[in-house]
Amino acid sequence: MEHIHPYSYAERLRRQLQGPWLNPLLKKWVGRGELDYEKYVRTPELLALQTPPEERVSDDELLFQVAHQTQELWLKLLSHESVEAVSELDRDALWEASARLERMLRVARCMASELGVLETLTPDTYQVIRRSLGNGSGQESPGYNAVRMAAEGLEGALERLLQRRGVTLVALYTGPAVAADLKRLCEQLVDYDEAFQNWLYAHFQLVRRTIGVDATVKALDGLPTRVLSGRMTKPLFPALWQVRVELTACWRREGGYAPGAPRGETETAGDTPPAVMASGTGTP
Ligand code: HEM
Repeated sequence: MEHIHPYSYAERLRRQLQGPWLNPLLKKWVGRGELDYEKYVRTPELLALQTPPEERVSDDELLFQVAHQTQELWLKLLSHESVEAVSELDRDALWEASARLERMLRVARCMASELGVLETLTPDTYQVIRRSLGNGSGQESPGYNAVRMAAEGLEGALERLLQRRGVTLVALYTGPAVAADLKRLCEQLVDYDEAFQNWLYAHFQLVRRTIGVDATVKALDGLPTRVLSGRMTKPLFPALWQVRVELTACWRREGGYAPGAPRGETETAGDTPPAVMASGTGTP
């Protein structure tokens, strides 16, 4: 039997994986770009978008490129969905807008968890890849810029919707539940915003473990990596976060119960709870 060095198996497999392959079920050649799936997904173009093996500066460069390319695609989807959501909000199609916001939330969550794959890139390998990135900056990401701009559009649509319904954000969160549908929508926007910030937090941790976060560590565009921690909490919809601050500013301790104290009669509890917390000593 022919003796094959283990490396040769890998080499042989690598060559085999260049395709095309005869699929035994279809009895068709896959990998030539001739099948409907390949034409629709445009796999020949898509799979040619990564640096070929012989030109890679590191084996892990494929991981690095695939991670960035997929993230750009998800960001592209997020800004597309945002435009559709603006159109739905402007025509009061709230169920449709709500379903779309759920989708956007899931995409943002998916993006954050995807970054976990890139965490398998060790710092030493990244230092090699980094040499070939020019002065590239994350701020140059078209998807990221588009998503932030799309969010401004969404915030505008929300403002118009609130105006049409004659309700302010504070009233929405404090008044009787006359606009429960709008309140739900606002919470979904907050869900999406929070997931987007969680994505930036996941990115921050990725940066921290690959190049470090410190005043002395500069990004390729010269910015200290430390600025990232401030930027990652910049919300997409500031007004929806500000309303929380306003609610808390109006909050009064009166009307609550001392911890552990009996809560009184069930029919009155919740309506006019006794004011016991201000002094901290009373009983209901
Ligand atoms: C090992 C992987 C990565 C490293 C070491 C890294 C490093 C950095 C650094 C140092 C910055 C701050 C300076 C700047 O704006 O360029 C940054 C920003 C950014 N990066 Fe990355 N990055 C990585 C992966 C990614 C990926 C996969 C994406 C996905 C699109 C991404 C998107 C961004 C964005 C959008 C910003 C701007 C964020 C902001 O200003 O708040 N990065 N990155």
